[in-house]
Amino acid sequence: MKGRPIRDGFFMPHRYVLLLLSLMHDGIEAFERREGNGMQERKNVTNDREMVRSGNFAQDLETLRAEGRLEKEIDRVKHAYEERIQGSNSFMDQKAWEAFTIIDLFHPETAEHCVETLHLAREKMESALHGSNQTAGESAVIFSKIFNMDRNALNVFYRACLLHDIGKVNVSYEIITNTASDQDVAKVLYLHINEYGRVLKDRHLAIIANPDKLLEALKRKNTRPNGIVRAVDILSPESATILRRRGIDVDNKTLPDIIREHEEQSQKILEALGMAGESWIAGHHHDYKNELKEIPVEIHGVRVLLAEILHLADVIQAMTGKRGYKKPHTKLGALDILVDQAMHKMVDPNLTALWVRDEMDRVEPLSAEDAALLETESYKNLPPELQHRKKILGFLEKNNKVRIGDRIITIDIPKMVA
Ligand SMILES: [Fe+2]
Ligand SMILES: [Fe+2]
Repeated sequence: MKGRPIRDGFFMPHRYVLLLLSLMHDGIEAFERREGNGMQERKNVTNDREMVRSGNFAQDLETLRAEGRLEKEIDRVKHAYEERIQGSNSFMDQKAWEAFTIIDLFHPETAEHCVETLHLAREKMESALHGSNQTAGESAVIFSKIFNMDRNALNVFYRACLLHDIGKVNVSYEIITNTASDQDVAKVLYLHINEYGRVLKDRHLAIIANPDKLLEALKRKNTRPNGIVRAVDILSPESATILRRRGIDVDNKTLPDIIREHEEQSQKILEALGMAGESWIAGHHHDYKNELKEIPVEIHGVRVLLAEILHLADVIQAMTGKRGYKKPHTKLGALDILVDQAMHKMVDPNLTALWVRDEMDRVEPLSAEDAALLETESYKNLPPELQHRKKILGFLEKNNKVRIGDRIITIDIPKMVA
């Protein structure tokens, strides 16, 4: 048999060599075709993102549909997220996938935040809460059981969790992704000190020597500089022009004023999609309008409590999740902030107590020395992580009888040492 050596004494017949070469050629061509398609598709996705960032949910959805891009984008998003979103039951329908796909196109970090928020809320809805003892004979405390929720009601809640920040799409990409730090904004404030002198005076802040001193003085008043400075002074001139054209009042409103609008936008978008229950819950996830405390639970029933649970999950996720531009809080730091909100009646103290108690079983136990410190030292002499624990324990001791609906649940105080 004719052939040529390919490696130490092995011979391969010519026709096999030719066959091999032709197979390799076909393979490379197919690979290049696929690569070409892949590159084209990546370009398409980039274009779709750019379009969605122009800030009009309803219009963008229709354009994607008309251009035949919507299903492709949904497939891509399903591929990336389906397993994490669905969990053990399927609550996503076509409309929910369409809406979530727009969130992903708008800002992948927001999509990620929404998925994580859903996880935290679902965990609390479906698993037994640690550290709570019911009266004898009753089953473990599980939110969905306390609220008597059937599968349908739970599905509405989960869709509300996943889509709660959809209103950000209409608020504008430039604002949502603005990363100016407090230091940056304090500098701006200082630069325009004449213009803001009146506002500072109203807040009993004298004119101050430099931006750092100004920031310190603001912190003492529990004020962040971006709550004072108008958006136009923080944004680039190009962004400001784009936003003005979209009807956003950057000249009079602050960044937090504009960002707050996303809650109402979420409500409007979901309502227009025919998701009434989801729209109400998502539309109260921050409760910027302070309605939850005004509406008795009897009127909106479980919805009020669900909006609060979504709020707790949202706050914890936002504080502990990774965000490129700021250091995440520790779990205890985040729980401390929740406790603070509950003590100021900004969130329901009953739900917060159950939630926080459950989380305390998931934090590291203390060493014997630290536990002794916690016992003996006063709050202000403790290091921050122990301060968080002291505050959380104090709150749980005061709120160990939790009332939800017509039930009273007793929670035990967590042990601090292993
Ligand atoms: Fe939000
Ligand atoms: Fe959120």
